[in-house]
Amino acid sequence: MTEDRVVVVTGGASGIGLGITQLFARKGHPVAMLDVQEDALEREGAALRAQGANILARKVDVSKREEIEAAYAVIRNQLGKIAIVVANAGISEGIPFQDVSVEIWQRMVDINLTGVFHTVQASLPDMLEAKWGRIITISSHAAQSGAADRAHYSAAKGGVIGLTRALAREFAAHGITVNTIPPSVVATPMADQGIAAGTFPPLDVISQHIPIPRPGTPEDIAAACEYLASDGASYVTGQVLAVNGGMFIG
Ligand SMILES: NC(=O)c1ccc[n+]([C@@H]2O[C@H](COP(=O)([O-])OP(=O)(O)OC[C@H]3O[C@@H](n4cnc5c(N)ncnc54)[C@H](O)[C@@H]3O)[C@@H](O)[C@H]2O)c1
Repeated sequence: MTEDRVVVVTGGASGIGLGITQLFARKGHPVAMLDVQEDALEREGAALRAQGANILARKVDVSKREEIEAAYAVIRNQLGKIAIVVANAGISEGIPFQDVSVEIWQRMVDINLTGVFHTVQASLPDMLEAKWGRIITISSHAAQSGAADRAHYSAAKGGVIGLTRALAREFAAHGITVNTIPPSVVATPMADQGIAAGTFPPLDVISQHIPIPRPGTPEDIAAACEYLASDGASYVTGQVLAVNGGMFIG
């Protein structure tokens, strides 16, 4: 039963990660949702369990290797070997490049790039043993076209795309595919925070510049994850699957 495959979603308590968690849970997968937001984990985890889903919700900071390792030990024990990983957790903030301190830069890289390294590397033993695995990273349009006042974010996300491509080649012969989805504009709390801070245009304004003139939804991104995680996508690896309404066509 392919629906038995255990899924890990980082940043699974909000926005895109929550949409991905909900879709895999609805399809019958055991899902581990990892996030730093304890309240949201508790609330969303309980809501999914009430619908019959097999959910493990755990507070994890993806930039801390020991927290990932500890969470994976619990996942292996309670849900089983990890088969599908969606490295989605991330932060975003608009800061002019000249104001990006070493600390701000480091935090961005620690969470948005090194967090993906930890999330993926620690899951690989299960996939190598099974000779089957699906790794999906969530990168960003910002790495494809650049984003003013988001140099640190763009750089970290560019690293995610490079990491994804390298891992695709390294693990292709082991039955493990590695792909990335770079969203452009998705209506989530992250987008709301950028709009409130004045560092991101209102969604109705930016929608006028999207060929399919609406913001993306977490469900749009989740549908692409479901495809990339499927057996039908076994010949798809190292790809940048832009689910973005045509906002960036590369
Ligand atoms: N929303 C967009 O328009 C958009 C566009 C491009 C890329 N993305 C990317 O999509 C991903 C999801 O973003 P979203 O829009 O759903 O944002 P969101 O803020 O709604 O969700 C991100 C989640 O990641 C969690 N998180 C943050 N730091 C963490 C850490 N150190 N460890 C564990 N969890 C952590 C947050 O608590 C939150 O639940 C991010 O990687 C983001 O960069 C989003």
